[in-house]
Amino acid sequence: MNPTHLHPEGRPDITGRPDIERFVNAFYGKVRDDDLLGFIFNDVAKTDWATHLPKMYAFWETMLFRSSGYVGNPLAAHARLLPLTTMGRPQFDRWLAIFTATVDELFTGENAERIKNTAADMANVIHAKINGVAQAPYDYTKLTPEQRARYGIDPPKVVAP
Ligand code: HEM
Repeated sequence: MNPTHLHPEGRPDITGRPDIERFVNAFYGKVRDDDLLGFIFNDVAKTDWATHLPKMYAFWETMLFRSSGYVGNPLAAHARLLPLTTMGRPQFDRWLAIFTATVDELFTGENAERIKNTAADMANVIHAKINGVAQAPYDYTKLTPEQRARYGIDPPKVVAP
């Protein structure tokens, strides 16, 4: 048996809620144990995982499939952590590295790419807004070719002397 959503490598794409739940559980399983991020959830926010995990299932289901009705305020949730702990580029880069690695372990395909791109964009926006710094995505030198194409940003014009 070879379900049609299975890619040649054997990893499926993300096709619905059960995949999202599997991903979110695996992702936060690693985050909780991470030396840079674990204590932010466990000790600073004192996260109630029985509440946070279902919220994140709904969040990512809404992001990918426009369903399930996540209601919340991600910006405020992170801004409130700032007086209590550092939420800098190293933390967001680590978060994103774990996110990307977890997606790639479990899935491959169009939705797997979309969830990684959405996470990268949101990490940039949240990092910039809560720290009051310029957004990395709009710094041309930091854009991936894929982001440049998606944002429709042209290379800076070289002005002739
Ligand atoms: C340095 C990176 C990050 C850290 C340390 C972090 C940490 C946290 C913590 C501690 C909470 C609150 C959990 C609780 O209720 O106890 C939270 C909530 C949340 N985070 Fe993050 N986060 C990070 C990055 C991100 C990114 C990049 C996204 C989006 C792509 C995201 C999406 C969310 C959402 C949707 C919530 C729930 C907000 C709500 O209450 O509605 N997080 N995060």
